[in-house]
Amino acid sequence: MTSNNMLPKAGTLRRVQGVLLILSAILLAQCEENTYRIGERVYKANCANCHMDNGEGLGELIPPIANSDYLKNNRDKLACIVRYGLKDTIMVNGKQYSEQMAGIKLEDVALVNLLNYIGHSWGNDLKPYTLEEVRTMLGQCATQQ
Ligand code: HEC
Repeated sequence: MTSNNMLPKAGTLRRVQGVLLILSAILLAQCEENTYRIGERVYKANCANCHMDNGEGLGELIPPIANSDYLKNNRDKLACIVRYGLKDTIMVNGKQYSEQMAGIKLEDVALVNLLNYIGHSWGNDLKPYTLEEVRTMLGQCATQQ
């Protein structure tokens, strides 16, 4: 009977596994939290002067990013829009906009963090972007510009 005590019991193993699972969940959450904060800084430094801190835009001139149906319907074009700009007449949440947005040069990683920030702020709920995916998207628009 005493020799059995030398081996970890199944219950102990399960507890250890449980603790490890919780620890990795915490680490992952912190990691996501940090990239979200980095994205927020990139947004404030490059976008907020036009689209405002809370993404609501500015009157007739600057479309909102907050709760934007355009964002939702054009998820796969956003990387190219930010990098190369947009010069079009577009509808955002039922209103028409036709001013021009110049492209904004950001490192690929900063762009991913930015897209994930706007995609998960102010009521937006976009599928998260990966670096690989954003690079593929950029490769496709670079050939069209
Ligand atoms: C100088 C002002 C200005 C800045 C800075 C700017 N934008 Fe824009 N943005 C605009 C305008 C104007 C449009 C509409 C363009 C059009 O109608 O073709 C627009 C359109 C958009 C759209 C598509 C429409 C919508 O609201 O969903 C997105 C997304 C967007 N901008 C994101 C960004 C992001 C992200 C940044 C920062 C990296 C940024 N913009 C910086 C002026 C700006």
